[in-house]
Amino acid sequence: MQPFTTDWRKRWFGKAVAVAQPDTTEDVAAVVRWCVANNVPIVPQGGNTGMSGASVPDESGQALVLSLARMNRVREIDLPNNTITVEAGCILQTIQELAREKGKLFPLSLGAEGSCMIGGNLSSNAGGVAVLRYGNARELCLGLEVVTAQGEIWNGLRGLRKDNTGYDLRDLFIGAEGTLGVITAATLKVFPLPAAKITAWAAVKDLHEGLRLLALAQNKLGASLTAFEVLTPPCIELLGEQLPQLRWPLSTRDTHAVLIELSDGESEANGRAALETLLESAFESGLVTDAAIAANLTQSAEFWSLRDHMTEAQQRAGKNIKHDIAVPISRTADFVTSTNAEIARHFPGVRMIVFGHLGDGNLHYNVSPPKGTAGEDFATIEGAINRITHDAVHAHGGSVSAEHGLGVLRRGEAARYKSPVELNMMRAIKQALDPQGIMNPGKGLPL
Ligand code: FAD
Ligand code: MLT
Ligand code: ZN
Repeated sequence: MQPFTTDWRKRWFGKAVAVAQPDTTEDVAAVVRWCVANNVPIVPQGGNTGMSGASVPDESGQALVLSLARMNRVREIDLPNNTITVEAGCILQTIQELAREKGKLFPLSLGAEGSCMIGGNLSSNAGGVAVLRYGNARELCLGLEVVTAQGEIWNGLRGLRKDNTGYDLRDLFIGAEGTLGVITAATLKVFPLPAAKITAWAAVKDLHEGLRLLALAQNKLGASLTAFEVLTPPCIELLGEQLPQLRWPLSTRDTHAVLIELSDGESEANGRAALETLLESAFESGLVTDAAIAANLTQSAEFWSLRDHMTEAQQRAGKNIKHDIAVPISRTADFVTSTNAEIARHFPGVRMIVFGHLGDGNLHYNVSPPKGTAGEDFATIEGAINRITHDAVHAHGGSVSAEHGLGVLRRGEAARYKSPVELNMMRAIKQALDPQGIMNPGKGLPL
């Protein structure tokens, strides 16, 4: 059972009474009813790529892992309605490929897309690199099929853009981290496939300049701007240390760099011209000091590989403290500058591995041990670094979890910043939908 009870980060090592892998909704419901009758807690699991410890059981050995991996059928493709209906165990990359085969785009995209599953994506309300243009998993879902905490089947698989008939039950289960019920299928939006995607790395002096470049890109490219990711200098250095085979396309690694992606509905030539015009005007205004536009799809994939391997590079470097914060886009640079200074004051020498989705104000504000140290004592300072970071996030009007969810990792921290009114409403929802507390106990807000 070990692959089902240890998380991707190798940080949580749980035990389970069993792992169930049902392959029909009726069997999922039967497993849930058995757990209800025997008071066995349930940990729903998709690809087990979650970052917050929400997808694995605790060490008690009491819980059952309910893996949706075998529920991976495509139920319906309705191209005129621009929807596809798939089961929860469908791997994200498979859905992307299925949509592309039909001349459509399913835009959810993240580094784990080769193994994460749509049920987990929805339950963690995954973000990724296309949120700027298409939104989080929540915005991409029109309907759900769910097995409730009582083992009943709710078929809410509607492909409607508008449905105002009572409370939005679908949105309760999205982002609930498996604490309200088990998602067994989803009806998803698909979009027109762009004629071309053009990708570029551009060097900027700092995050303030990065924000100015974002504003310029949004003004010049409008809705065709589909990704705007940032790496700060320590990230680019770490990539060079841990994954030297990934070629860095700019003249120096000692720079802030943004990855810009443009999707053009007309043609590659049109898209390329638009991106070149943007970069030329950024050069003229001194916003950008160096840039490289991918010459073809192969090079575009190489550019993305640098961004997508940030998580692995940090994992290879050893111990790391991760944050998944969101602040208003306009305040991202100030947040990083002031919080870096505060952390350096308390923990001189630690490496600030700050990168992520600058285009939607979501940064992975990660901390690694000082260069050349293995960070033996690093675990002892995690709490203090979390508190400095999260207090600063709160002061900047932000959230302590933008896309990874709270899981085990951030449940205590998140509760500190929630008002009693919010906590009471969420407690009432949890009580109403899972009164036995059988769904993924110990994960998410302590309600
Ligand atoms: P799991 O890890 O299996 O589960 C995640 C949560 O969903 C758990 O609470 C679990 O109980 C619940 N769950 C799973 N399936 C169901 C179901 N059918 N019904 C109800 N609850 C369920 N995340 C981002 O948002 N953006 C990123 O850019 C990003 N990049 C990543 C890069 C790498 C290299 C890695 C390893 C992870 C990254 N992640 C990112 C985190 C992770 O991939 C996402 O959270 C993803 O959505 C989890 O999907 P999963 O299928 O692996 O879910
Ligand atoms: C990513 O955006 O690469 C992940 O969400 C970040 C992380 O692994 O911390
Ligand atoms: Zn991310």
